[in-house]
Amino acid sequence: MALSSRHLLGIKYITAEDIRLILETADNFKEVINRPIKKVPSLRDITIANLFFENSTRTRISFELAEKRLSADIVNFSASSSSVKKGETLLDTVNNILAMKVDMIVMRHPLPGAPVFLSKHIPAKIINAGDGTHEHPTQALLDCFSLKEKLGDLKGARIAIVGDITHSRVALSNIFALNKLGAEVMVCGPPTLIPRHIESLGVKVEHNLRKTLEWCDAANMLRIQLERQDIKYFPSLREYSMLYQLNLPLLESLGKELVIMHPGPINRGVEITSEVADSDQAVILKQVENGVAVRMAVLFLLAGVK
Ligand code: CP
Repeated sequence: MALSSRHLLGIKYITAEDIRLILETADNFKEVINRPIKKVPSLRDITIANLFFENSTRTRISFELAEKRLSADIVNFSASSSSVKKGETLLDTVNNILAMKVDMIVMRHPLPGAPVFLSKHIPAKIINAGDGTHEHPTQALLDCFSLKEKLGDLKGARIAIVGDITHSRVALSNIFALNKLGAEVMVCGPPTLIPRHIESLGVKVEHNLRKTLEWCDAANMLRIQLERQDIKYFPSLREYSMLYQLNLPLLESLGKELVIMHPGPINRGVEITSEVADSDQAVILKQVENGVAVRMAVLFLLAGVK
């Protein structure tokens, strides 16, 4: 079995079969990374450049570990210490890196569409590690993997995505992935943080957090992306928390098991309290653990595509 695409630019551009193949392959790699010797030689002849034009903790370290576990050669690039600061274009930067015989590019960039643009101009395979407010495909894949571990088959599962939907690439990639796997998706947040016409993507919209949590099997709590907000979308973080924070009294009042997810970074005390984030119902660190296996699967499968 092979992926239908030679890049991973977004979940929008891959099929349900691609997603299933990645999740099945990740299952095998999860077993590998829990062995005493966590390394396999699968990508021994492959060189990968990790190009991060925007800050990251989880995704950058997760990709680097996934590449090392697959025995790839890697180079790490951070825009803040590069010649981008001297005015070099994205294409010149990437072409110079490719001239050093790099096979695959993992790229995070603040501009939506930057990986799609690159894919039209360079021969190397590209994995989108998050492009502005557009997509974060490997986050959605690791979220689906983590959900499957808790809920089994996602067909008919009810998943809520709560928070700043407008500025979230995690939300968009999750909507595409969950829809393709047959799950039902609800987005919840203040009207100003939910894009108009989002129902056309096949999701339900709810502005009341309690009703959302009563409906769903799992809730993915997103942070408010203040760094992407050029205007005020709500009066204050305090008011946002009063209406949209997942806290212990609310969770306990639901009287049911709920899978609680968060892509990180968490703003503790805003969208989620520490008591909930650190509770047994939260799978936040499991998501991070699963991210390495899922990224190993993506790298391994893309390396095999001609
Ligand atoms: N979830 C996620 O993308 O986190 P980072 O920004 O730390 O990579």
